[in-house]
Parts: sequence; C-alpha cells; structure tokens
Amino acid sequence: MLEIQQLHKVFPNGVVALDGVDLFVPRGEILGVIGRSGTGKSTLIRCINRLEEPTSGSILLDGRDVTRMRGGELRATRRRLGMIFQQFNLLTSRTAAENVALPLEVAGAGRAERRRRALELLALVGLEDRAGSYPSQLSGGQKQRVGIARALAAEPSVLLSDEATSALDSETTDSVLDLLRRINAELGVTVLLITHELDVVRRVCDSVALLDAGRVVESGPLGEVVARTGSALATGLLPSLGRVEVGESEIALDVVLLDDDADERLAAALTDGARVEARATERIGDRRVTRALVVTDDAADAPRLADELRVRGARAEVAR
Ligand SMILES: Nc1ncnc2c1ncn2[C@@H]1O[C@H](COP(=O)(O)OP(=O)(O)O)[C@@H](O)[C@H]1O
Ligand SMILES: [Mg+2]
Repeated sequence: MLEIQQLHKVFPNGVVALDGVDLFVPRGEILGVIGRSGTGKSTLIRCINRLEEPTSGSILLDGRDVTRMRGGELRATRRRLGMIFQQFNLLTSRTAAENVALPLEVAGAGRAERRRRALELLALVGLEDRAGSYPSQLSGGQKQRVGIARALAAEPSVLLSDEATSALDSETTDSVLDLLRRINAELGVTVLLITHELDVVRRVCDSVALLDAGRVVESGPLGEVVARTGSALATGLLPSLGRVEVGESEIALDVVLLDDDADERLAAALTDGARVEARATERIGDRRVTRALVVTDDAADAPRLADELRVRGARAEVAR
C-alpha cells in the first residue's frame, strides 16, 4: 500500500512542482496518474523514491514514511520500489540478462543466483531467447520488457512507471500494457503508472488521479469516474459513439449507465418520442459501462426524460 499525504515540492528556483498531493494506492492495484506536461508527474515519482527531496508531506509505504528514512533503511526501501522509464535507461555495454541482474548485484546476490533470476525474469516478460542480446540489438518494445524485468528483479512491492510507453508505437504500447497488467495480476505488485494519455489509463488502470499544477484535482476508480457529471476525465475514458446525426428540432442526451442491466434501465426510462440513436458498451476498470445517445423530438419533454434516466442511476447530460 502506498499513501501520499500533502506532498509539496518547491524547487530552489521557486517553482512549485507539487502543491499538496494526496494519493492512495491500495495493495495490488494499478493507479494511473495523468496530467499535462509540466504538471509535476515526474517530480512526484522522483519524490517517492527520494531522487528528489520532498519539501514537506509524507509518503507511506506499507505504513512507514519514506520521507523520514535515512541510510540503510532508505536503500532497502528503494530496492522495494521498481522503476520503469520512458527511455528504458538500460546500460548499453551489458546484455539483457546483465541489465536485469543489476539490482541483484547491488543487493549482493551471488553470480549463479543472479543468472538464474535474470533468466527467470526474462522468461516472464517473453524474452527468454534474448538473454545474450545487447540493447542495440533489441526493438523499443523489447528494451522496455528488459526494463520491466529489471524493475522486478529485487521483488519490489511497488512499481513506479514514468511514461513507460510514450516512446513506443501503439501496437507495442498495447503489448507492454498487457504485460504490466499480467505482472500485476500474477505477482500482486502495486503499480503507480504515470502517463499523459487517457488511453493508457483506460487500458490498464483500476483507478485514476488527474494532476494539474501540482495538485490532484479529480480521482477515483475508473468505473465511478466515467459516470460522474462534469468529470474532466470521463469524456476521454468513455467509449466513443462515432458521428451521430441529430435533427434540428431534436434534443440529444449523452447517457452513461453502469453494470449489466443497463439496457433494461435504459429501455424503462424512454418516454414516447425518444429513441436510442447510438450505443456502445465497454469494460472500464471493474465495471461494465454503457454509453448511449438518447434523442427526443419533443424538446419540452427532455428534462423529464433526463430525470427518468437519472432515477435509474444514469448520468444524463444534454449533448449539445
Ligand atoms: N530540477 C528542477 N528544478 C527546477 N524546476 C524543475 C526541476 N524539475 C522539474 N521542474 C519544474 O517542475 C514542474 C514539474 O515538472 P515535471 O515533474 O517534470 O512535470 P511532468 O513530468 O508532469 O511533465 C515543471 O514546471 C518543471 O519545469
Ligand atoms: Mg515527466
């Protein structure tokens, strides 16, 4: 479990990169932290592993405050935080297996043990046949797999990923995200995943926090966020309905319903003259999410229709 309370970071030049961040990542979950460039995402990760000294606040890792740790305790804690980087940060003079073994070397493991673990981890990420390859002989996706294997070498309880897929094409991104999801499920490792892409959040995260100017401005489990009225995150996470033609005199409601009985509730709410013009269903986080465009030719009836939908637990907003 990772809990961050009122974290502040002011750089010596006066830049306030973190302005009171509160975050909670339950054990075994994947939390996505999303935000524009320059909003403090990398600073947040660098404070968690103390590459930057936080100005104030606390970072509780399994109940112990990382900001107060010194010496041996800090080094041991850093080993329990696996890092994955956008630019992979592999040593070019070392093979894949030797890169993966690096954290084990630092931890003082013997040669045979390092070799055994490195091969095991490379197999876990699907690179058992590339153990002897150098980074220059690997594709971007393969390099990131080596980076993930290395991050797992010291059996971390938390993985910190800073834009891990930002340097990869979309197909490779998908396979790396699938790998992270599988590792999370198989090893139970908690993941804090930093990204500027909502698509990444939708694909792998259980919950999401939106960072803006060094603060968390919205957060929650994906399945809840998408059903919120006025959510800055919902639009980007919801299934797209494509282009829909709506008549001049008609009113369209953008409707979101959670869970399996969405269709029945939608049908029950429809009043005379209203129809479902488009609908899409997707699993988002741990919920089944249905989005529908409900159109009525009776503009005066639209508020009543919206109420009928809300009574049945739907989010209903006038689409235009
Ligand atoms: N070492 C530093 N000294 C001064 N300002 C910094 C330093 N590192 C980052 N910043 C500033 O802190 C803010 C947040 O940066 P960063 O955490 O890298 O954002 P993000 O990762 O979201 O793009 C930016 O305004 C950036 O210019
Ligand atoms: Mg960054």
